[in-house]
Amino acid sequence: MWAAAPSQKQFDPTDESYDTISCDVLIVGAGGAGMRAAIESFDLGVNTLIVCKSLLGKAHTVMAEGGIAASLGNVDPQDNWKIHFSDTIVEGQQLSNWRIAEIFAKEAPERVIELEYYGALFDRTEDGKIMQRPFGAHSYRRLCYIGDRTGLELIRTLQDQVLKRNIPYIDESEITCIFKDRRTGAVSGALAIKIRTGELILLKCKAIILATGGCGKVYAVTSNSWESTGDGIALAYRAGAELMDMEMIQFHPTGMIYPAGVRGMLITEAVRGEGGILTNSKGERFMEKYDPKRLELSARDVVSRSIYTEIQEGRGTPNGAVYLDIRHRGSNYIKSKLPSMYFQFLEFAGVDITKEKMEVAPTVHYQMGGIRVVPETCETNIKGLYAAGEVACGLHGANRLGGNSLSDILVFGRRAGLAASEYAKSSSSQEVGTEDLAKEISRILAPFKNVNGSNPFDLKDRIAAAMWKYVGIVRNETDLRKGLDEIGLIKLESKNLQAKGPRAFNQSWADSMAVWNMILDCEAIIRSALARKESRGAHTRSDYPRKDDANWLVNIVTKEKEGQMVQETVPVPQMPPEYEALINREEILAWKKNVKQ
Ligand code: FUM
Repeated sequence: MWAAAPSQKQFDPTDESYDTISCDVLIVGAGGAGMRAAIESFDLGVNTLIVCKSLLGKAHTVMAEGGIAASLGNVDPQDNWKIHFSDTIVEGQQLSNWRIAEIFAKEAPERVIELEYYGALFDRTEDGKIMQRPFGAHSYRRLCYIGDRTGLELIRTLQDQVLKRNIPYIDESEITCIFKDRRTGAVSGALAIKIRTGELILLKCKAIILATGGCGKVYAVTSNSWESTGDGIALAYRAGAELMDMEMIQFHPTGMIYPAGVRGMLITEAVRGEGGILTNSKGERFMEKYDPKRLELSARDVVSRSIYTEIQEGRGTPNGAVYLDIRHRGSNYIKSKLPSMYFQFLEFAGVDITKEKMEVAPTVHYQMGGIRVVPETCETNIKGLYAAGEVACGLHGANRLGGNSLSDILVFGRRAGLAASEYAKSSSSQEVGTEDLAKEISRILAPFKNVNGSNPFDLKDRIAAAMWKYVGIVRNETDLRKGLDEIGLIKLESKNLQAKGPRAFNQSWADSMAVWNMILDCEAIIRSALARKESRGAHTRSDYPRKDDANWLVNIVTKEKEGQMVQETVPVPQMPPEYEALINREEILAWKKNVKQ
């Protein structure tokens, strides 16, 4: 349902008029976190509105293909929330917030059952329970799945629930700014551009939940699609919110290599979960060297670094990749458990994975860092501003376990919806300052006024190339500084971005917004990566190759101070002793000794 009928009006590029819509809780983003938040907020009787950049139902959530992690214990009855908690913290290299991880691991099973109740059709065990498969660094078979289309089914299910309830949404629309009431400092609204028409909408609200996903598109090789330009991070930062652990970018070990148009496209970890083997050009099963116990099902940071090392040291394929082989599972098994992978390779690369090996290399997949939030409520340091899902920080630490993102978005999407609606019910309307609104409208329309300005498409490409080159899997001070300089140059050029043509469906205008957001994200990523002088999880520094618990068991907080972006370190919150014992289990300490960091 449309919150407002689509306008037929043609907008002059400099037209500063806008429509106004009011709601209590505004949800920005309609991936799993946004839709789950909307369901909660709507069911609590609060006037809820979703605004999303893409069409409803199209979200990066679908790129969590192999499963949703929850300790149901359907296949391995020994599993329980404590082991899931422990795996999450251990593989996050102890940067996770223990309270967030506790809530997550305890509530994930309930959310999966609820998803089934909502209508998700999971694969089944022989006795009719939800099926669970192994995934990297999970101690037990924990990933509930629907073939290799789990994220897609999750989105389809939640979308059904949103539509069934008639929750209002405005899709293909972009939020450019969060407004705060100058008297109270609390959230009072946001400005949106409706991409289809180019019209502006002032959205007055009491609370905002950011569920905008990540910023994968700041890298040239990524599994993320065009929407993932880190908008939520930039919106929150400009509103005064704190960011955390921004240096932690996840490289998924297996992305496609060719053809060029699909480089970086995800090859689900479920291929390895179902027995896929990684080999180098010499035919060696190289994971035996890096993690002899867990092999291909080691943690993502370990597998990505191992593949990177094999390629760098000359044992890659002629296409700059390694091989992933699932042929031994047989054609019928592959087609039933990994149908999307089968068609993806056949249709895009002309490779029949039942008969041929795949070529794979790491691809940027996820940001572990994001907006700093309160564990129980997903509240930020701005009154009325909440964040859930990939845009928020605290659960995954320095490395996310596969499948934890889907349970994350359900657990914390729900919690954000609950907390934001309770807040909205108990608070009065806030004011959007006329000056603030005028200033924002003038900022976003500026690209139409610029002549001989910079081309947003070019700047986007340059950002992505610089990040891939200088801020990759293995980093060092010199490269990071070069990256920061290049982003600094692009930032200067972005002050004069030019959008050509009418306002409706204007990609150069939309990309101007994206470029401004991406620059802010990149700056936060690089400055945080420079600050962390050690190697931990996804953040590997060749100039500081060791993990340094004595000095760096800290989270790096990014915030604005007197107009400057600054980084501060805060100790990782101390967990209760009974939880310490869980993460220091003997079996964990034993195998960790043999893993090459
Ligand atoms: O490999 C995958 O299917 C991705 C899952 C995830 O990122 O959680």
